[in-house]
Amino acid sequence: MRRGPRLAAPMDYPLRVRIYEVGPRDGLQNESAPIPTDAKLAYIALLRAAGLREIEATSFVSPRAIPQLADADQLLPALLDVAAADAVRFPVLVPNMRGMERAEAAGASALAVFTAASDEFTSRNIGMTIDESLAEFKPVLQRATALGWWKRAYVSTAFGCPFSGRVEASKVVDVALRLVELGADEICLGDTIGVGVPSQVHALTKATTEAGLPLDRLAYHFHDTRGTALANVVAGLEDGVTCFDSSTGGTGGCPYAPGAAGNLATEDLVYLLDGLGIQHGVDLGGVLQAARFIAAALGKPLASKVGQAGGWNPATGERLI
Ligand code: COA
Ligand code: ZN
Repeated sequence: MRRGPRLAAPMDYPLRVRIYEVGPRDGLQNESAPIPTDAKLAYIALLRAAGLREIEATSFVSPRAIPQLADADQLLPALLDVAAADAVRFPVLVPNMRGMERAEAAGASALAVFTAASDEFTSRNIGMTIDESLAEFKPVLQRATALGWWKRAYVSTAFGCPFSGRVEASKVVDVALRLVELGADEICLGDTIGVGVPSQVHALTKATTEAGLPLDRLAYHFHDTRGTALANVVAGLEDGVTCFDSSTGGTGGCPYAPGAAGNLATEDLVYLLDGLGIQHGVDLGGVLQAARFIAAALGKPLASKVGQAGGWNPATGERLI
């Protein structure tokens, strides 16, 4: 594709951000139609070809809890040559030591642990209170540190909980700092049910960074349930946040969060960042190809805005289908 000059980025936005792809994990975990491992591998190959370099590949959770990702032990080893060749990071979700042992046996080198800012949600999602989940993660993160793995920690329901309602920023900060203390390299604040608005993003960025979390260790994970995901990204950019999660095709949602809808679509995020002139290394055409592939595999229409309308180069007016 011919590219015109990028529009200048506003001075106070980061020049470059990381796009952390969650399609193969968050995007698929809520889908009931079984997707064969080979189709998942083909999807991940397309994501890689689009330039994505951090792809959350699967979960080493109980197969009873998330049947769609029960093939994690077969899927991850099939990605390892790729990880080495392209310097792609393939984090996997790990809930406990059992999951850690499986991830280690499958050859992982990056993980994500996950708790929440509300006990009501952690209880339903992983059968533990927040305190219990942190106790469970302690040996997991210790082991991962000893192995030199990259470690992310999610704080779900950071913007609101489907069971207990409003979540205070102070609670999010408390959980985030405890995860840092346990060794997490990056804290990802999740709007699991897509209720957040930009003022909340500003409040959470301010609260976490003022409490001592460096800005470059903070990431945001937005669901577009109520159409606010991109507005929330812009708020994060205004704060100087440099890592955003998205799912190619806009798939996703947590089966344990009633009302949760799709993640922010990677194609919608890439389109916004391209227009703002912010670098990220991902090609919109490649993402659209991967998005169409996974939508076809799921037998669903594409949920994303750019997937439906096509891309458009704001500098040249050129349309990208
Ligand atoms: N991998 C595979 N199996 C596991 C496992 C793991 N990491 N952890 C536990 N199990 C198995 C146990 O062996 C046991 O199997 P059995 O019933 O055949 O004996 C069963 O799961 C229950 O184990 P238990 O220790 O009693 O845990 P639990 O039932 O309280 O479940 C979790 C706890 C964390 C394992 C489970 O809730 C889970 O995997 N949740 C993930 C939810 C998720 O991924 N949500 C979306 C992400 S936001
Ligand atoms: Zn999510």
